[in-house]
Amino acid sequence: MATLNATIASDIKSALADFFSTHQFSNVFVLVDENTTEHCLPIIQDVLPEFWSVQVKSGEEEKHIETCSMIWRSMTDARLDRKALMVNLGGGVIGDMGGFCAGTYKRGISFINIPTTLLAQVDASVGGKLGIDFDGFKNHIGLFKDPNHVFIAPQFLSTLPPRELRSGFAEVIKHAYIRDISYLHKIKSKSLKDQPWMERIQHSIDVKSQVVLQDPTEQGLRKILNFGHTVGHAIETTYLKTDKKLLHGEAIAVGMICELFLSHKLLELEKDRVDEEGRYLVDVFGCKSLNKSDFEQIVNNALQDKKNEGGVVKMSLLRSIGDCTYDIPVSAADMLDSLFYFNTIAEH
Ligand SMILES: NC(=O)c1ccc[n+]([C@@H]2O[C@H](COP(=O)([O-])OP(=O)(O)OC[C@H]3O[C@@H](n4cnc5c(N)ncnc54)[C@H](O)[C@@H]3O)[C@@H](O)[C@H]2O)c1
Ligand SMILES: [Zn+2]
Repeated sequence: MATLNATIASDIKSALADFFSTHQFSNVFVLVDENTTEHCLPIIQDVLPEFWSVQVKSGEEEKHIETCSMIWRSMTDARLDRKALMVNLGGGVIGDMGGFCAGTYKRGISFINIPTTLLAQVDASVGGKLGIDFDGFKNHIGLFKDPNHVFIAPQFLSTLPPRELRSGFAEVIKHAYIRDISYLHKIKSKSLKDQPWMERIQHSIDVKSQVVLQDPTEQGLRKILNFGHTVGHAIETTYLKTDKKLLHGEAIAVGMICELFLSHKLLELEKDRVDEEGRYLVDVFGCKSLNKSDFEQIVNNALQDKKNEGGVVKMSLLRSIGDCTYDIPVSAADMLDSLFYFNTIAEH
């Protein structure tokens, strides 16, 4: 199966062996973290040509310029020239940061992504956004550049911690909410542990790549991929350095419930449907109600979102399930209302 330059492989070794038998590189450089060194590299190392590797510490906290300096230094020590290939083997952090390092080293060398988390497989590895965090701002420095190829293999998911798997599932659900109501029925007909991942990943990538192909640099349509993310990011940021820290998808699940409510309040999505989807998301993600004393901070964080223009929060909202539109202005009062709504659903 192939979409854009992505292959969803049931046999990752043979997919990579094919790739390396038809492409020549002066050198191969593999970026990993300690978890992908342990669980993922052993699966593919036999089929890689002779390679250099560099291991960084896992986690979003490492996605910054100092880690990039270390990576560029290792690339320089390995004497990589412009015909070299970088292989990013890991989750979204490795893909975003490794792609950024490859895209800027000697004005850019080839790179392939082998995403190993569900979130990276259904979202981060497709669409060409590369970057790192800077001075507390997420993905503040970066560029748009597509990898030469993306190899997606569900077999990597077997070692992923269950909470990480569930986090990626939020984006799978999001892709159905914004583009495909009939697919949502399929997703909801199975529990998280019984999802057929090959098929789910293919669907997500089809949706994301259709959208990205029409609007690669997010001038318009691509904004629909942000459904659930304005409120979701604000919640993620609010709890980032607390003991209530949420994984990205967990925060997006809460954000989607709030933005479903706003889709009813400001557009024409039916209230019964909002309640039904809200209860489904609370169920899957085990969402707990939020402290009312945090609401003001959440709304303030949403007002700071880099995707907003001129002090107005513009969101991507649903006209109906499967039909998302963008640039809908939302007031702080409406956002606050949506947080109260979330609590009524979470406490149900
Ligand atoms: N570029 C984009 O379009 C885009 C889109 C969405 C998210 N992102 C970025 O993606 C990042 C989040 O990605 P993520 O959720 O994959 O997090 P991550 O890369 O931090 O991975 C999560 C954890 O899983 C571990 N891990 C990875 N693969 C494993 C495996 N197969 N078995 C066991 N453990 C494994 C990692 O070491 C890490 O500890 C964020 O930085 C976000 O900004 C980018
Ligand atoms: Zn997301």
